[in-house]
Amino acid sequence: MQSPAVHIFLYLFMTLIALSTDMVSNTTNRINVPVIAIDGPTASGKGTVAARLADALGFHYLDSGALYRLTGLAARRQAIDLSAGREIADITWRLDIRFQGDKIFLAGEDVSDEIRGEAAGQNASVVAAHPAVREALLARQRQFREAPGLVCDGRDMGSVIFPDAALKVFLTASVEARAERRTKQLKQKGISAIIDDVVAELRIRDERDCNRPVAPLQCQADAQLLDTTEISAGMAVEKILGWYKTAIYNRDLASNTRVDA
Ligand code: CDP
Repeated sequence: MQSPAVHIFLYLFMTLIALSTDMVSNTTNRINVPVIAIDGPTASGKGTVAARLADALGFHYLDSGALYRLTGLAARRQAIDLSAGREIADITWRLDIRFQGDKIFLAGEDVSDEIRGEAAGQNASVVAAHPAVREALLARQRQFREAPGLVCDGRDMGSVIFPDAALKVFLTASVEARAERRTKQLKQKGISAIIDDVVAELRIRDERDCNRPVAPLQCQADAQLLDTTEISAGMAVEKILGWYKTAIYNRDLASNTRVDA
């Protein structure tokens, strides 16, 4: 006759084994899910292009910038100084975020419009420079990798979050073209904007995002560079779809060659 303590021990032991087996198989499953990582500077058209690509392929979509915008908003609301990286990271772990279609909720409140403003973008870029905040958002971003595939956009999708992405794209455009697009977007939302101010804001954000010590915005050696100054979002999507088909074809060819060898 075994004592209750032995039963409890055996029960806990078996639960632990089941949980770790589950975690390993989850991680393995995720690794097999293809990712298209799109990085680039502000207003380069990443969001539009990534969302359309996800639609065309029937893939999930991760707007990683929204997570930094939400973090900045949550910090502001809790009156935390944006330079206090540790304190912001502490609240980041616990953020109650929900993506539902085009809507984004923070603690149950629809903040979709509030996080899109230029002030929210600047705040996001300040909190994003803290290594502890980036660390706190890492696992959350990787959870978006689910079958049949993921398209994600941001600054470090290909370099840090999904370094094994099937395709990495660096989307860019001239400052003038980006400022024009951002001004148009703002006006469509009923927010008045002066192009010179927008150019100045873009330059500040580019400077901060490219020169921070952690996960700076850079075109990686293994990324395809796409300049969208002269091309439409639709053309950019077509181009990337072509690259993706080639990348998947080459990947399958390489794995068949390995099996045959
Ligand atoms: O849409 P836009 O490119 O203007 O900005 P966003 O993608 O929403 O990102 C807002 C800010 O979050 C950026 O300026 C970056 O500082 C930061 N960010 C980041 O550091 N890493 C990411 N993967 C995504 C955004």
